[in-house]
Amino acid sequence: NFNKDLVGKKILVTAGPTIESIDPVRYLTNHSSGKMGYKIAAMAEKRGADVVLISGPTHLDKPKNVKVIDVISTKDMYEQVLKYFDESDILIKSAAPSDYRPVRYSDSKLKKSNEDLEIKFVRNPDILKKCGEIKKEQKIIGFAAESNDLEKYALEKLKKKNLDMIVANDISKKESGFKSDNNKVILFKNNGSKVEYPLMRKEDLANIILDNIN
Ligand code: PMT
Repeated sequence: NFNKDLVGKKILVTAGPTIESIDPVRYLTNHSSGKMGYKIAAMAEKRGADVVLISGPTHLDKPKNVKVIDVISTKDMYEQVLKYFDESDILIKSAAPSDYRPVRYSDSKLKKSNEDLEIKFVRNPDILKKCGEIKKEQKIIGFAAESNDLEKYALEKLKKKNLDMIVANDISKKESGFKSDNNKVILFKNNGSKVEYPLMRKEDLANIILDNIN
């Protein structure tokens, strides 16, 4: 029994980690399970929105009635977000895209030797920053996953990436952030407002985030 307050809204959500392959065997990734973004997509759909979910590799069931686009790398996610951003009303970037990728991918498996191995990584595009630069009427909600100086870094990202709101996520504790069914955040808006929430289920937080987009 959901309030259909998002009927007519096109919402683009990203979720999960990205994977940056080094060779056919090895890759760089992070601890994101996709749970936060999948709950946002599912709740937005239940509230009547038209939802596109761009998902990195996860083990989750696809939310019902949501258009899911699977991607692997940050570059793939960048391309798909830009493809749908124009026609969206709201972008919610809960994914954890890798900021770096190996400078080159090796088609053949790297052989081990007795030496140490050094791999050079280059910067990936910042998807959220790009969207902040080109946005028209869209509302953009970013996340900041931080292990320290949460408020400082979150406010920097809110400003630098031209966001409407940022979900500041303290990832220093086990019971919230990556992989957990729960999360603990502070919401900062570009009008200066700050609201800190207690630990809660990601599903409930998804609804609070959606309530706060105006
Ligand atoms: O997936 P779960 O296991 O449920 O965990 C949820 C979560 C911890 C991943 C989620 O709540 C969260 O905090 N997501 C943001 C993770 C992250 O990448 O944070 P960041 O501070 O590195 O990036 C800031 C923002 O820029 C994020 O909105 C991110 O999506 C975006 N970004 C980052 C890098 C990049 N190249 N492009 C981006 O758009």
